[in-house]
Amino acid sequence: MQCVLSLSNWLGSPCDAIVLATPENWRTATHITEADQATGGLLSRLLESGEISTKPCKTTVLQSPAGISAKQVVLVGIGAPSDWKAITANRSAGAALKAISSKSREIVRLVGFTGAGEIERAAVAGAMAGCVGQDLFRKEKSLFQPETLEWHGLQEENIRKGFAIGESVNLTRKLVNLPPNYLYPESFAEAAQSVAQQYQLSIEIWDKAKLESERCGSLLGVARGSVKEPRLVILQYRGAEPSVAPIALVGKGVTFDSGGYSIKPTDGMLTMKCDMAGAATVLGIMQAAARLQARCNLVAVMGLVENLVSGDAFKLGDVLTARSGKTIEIHNTDAEGRLVLADCLDVAAGFSPSKIVDFATLTGACCVALGNDISGLMTNAVEWQTEIQSAADRCGEFVWPLPMHSFFSEQIAGKVADIKNVGEGRWGGAITAAKFLEEFVQQIPWTHIDIAGPAFLDSPKAWCDAGGSGTLVRTFAELLSSS
Ligand code: BES
Ligand code: MN
Ligand code: ZN
Repeated sequence: MQCVLSLSNWLGSPCDAIVLATPENWRTATHITEADQATGGLLSRLLESGEISTKPCKTTVLQSPAGISAKQVVLVGIGAPSDWKAITANRSAGAALKAISSKSREIVRLVGFTGAGEIERAAVAGAMAGCVGQDLFRKEKSLFQPETLEWHGLQEENIRKGFAIGESVNLTRKLVNLPPNYLYPESFAEAAQSVAQQYQLSIEIWDKAKLESERCGSLLGVARGSVKEPRLVILQYRGAEPSVAPIALVGKGVTFDSGGYSIKPTDGMLTMKCDMAGAATVLGIMQAAARLQARCNLVAVMGLVENLVSGDAFKLGDVLTARSGKTIEIHNTDAEGRLVLADCLDVAAGFSPSKIVDFATLTGACCVALGNDISGLMTNAVEWQTEIQSAADRCGEFVWPLPMHSFFSEQIAGKVADIKNVGEGRWGGAITAAKFLEEFVQQIPWTHIDIAGPAFLDSPKAWCDAGGSGTLVRTFAELLSSS
């Protein structure tokens, strides 16, 4: 697929579909009145009678309306002028594309998606996500990407950047959607390798022997139960002077989480291929930053393991020694993500980053606290967290802070070892998990993002198929490239 600026007479030149962003005050939108005139008043009749809704993401498809040389005209609601933000642009463009992508199309032209830079980029990325589904292994695909998306009136730079962001979001989504027999630590590392090659990132891949010599005992403890050997991937992007300290991005890459001996029931295990979404998010962000030539230095650390049961798997009561030297008593083998991240955070801290952010599908408790559409933020540095929160607000993605009071740490004190890998009971489970991670970030400003809710959609949305969502790739692409 390609995204280009529409240079043609948008009403007159033939194409497969024209998508019209349709605001509540459509009478004042020139592209709607022009299309209305061309169709002899058809659009205004349907809008006035309420047959066409202008509510955000509501789509109406008209088949070859007389007067317009497009095979289809799609009206997608964008709501009131005050709704015209990145979230509406992203979702309405996605909904429009999703509505017409059940067949392959050559040229789809989109009109009325102009706005501030982040709005235009959000529209482009949204359209690209709307026409890509999770049907990776189906002979009969349910969604098809058009060959060309022609954008009318957008700034060409926003089309180019939005396209890079959209491809990165779709990369993350695809990795999350790949089944765990296809995507496991080694094959994930290969995917990272190909991104690195394509966009000139430097890459280091630690195999099991290297992880042992680096004394990554916490990550290795989780990995023991699987015949698939673990990997730790370090990617570096240099977009600023070498003297500028990097920002570290850390990702949980549990390619399948059975829970281990604290085994999950079938229903809870079914979607646990998504447990590498944190690492996939980091890879998507690295790709986007490189393509946008962000003016910063980045180091990414992704911890890749499979959490299974076997005669050699880690057990309850085991004590693991993390790379930092801290000892960890295992009270629940299903609290494995924090064990993987403990060593990844320690590796990241070794690069003396100015700040760290980690992404992880870490706790069901975070979904209980915030629902499925909001990621939890937990930090030791409120300014860094606020910077992330405002970038997410600008992009129309949802994050919310959870409190990190020091008394939560009491819950993870160990009896046999320094710390234990769960709190006392379930309450505040997202926070006790974050408190565990905080033990491994030294004094570096750090924000933990629990994406357990939004990373994987159980059911489809109007603007996006179910499965991997690519949540927060847009936010960090914008955050990192905006300075
Ligand atoms: N990967 C899960 C968390 C998760 C749950 C992600 C639902 C996405 C959707 C994590 O490894 C886990 O199992 N966490 C436990 C922690 C508990 C044992 C302290 C949980 O949330 O139940
Ligand atoms: Mn688990
Ligand atoms: Zn997990």
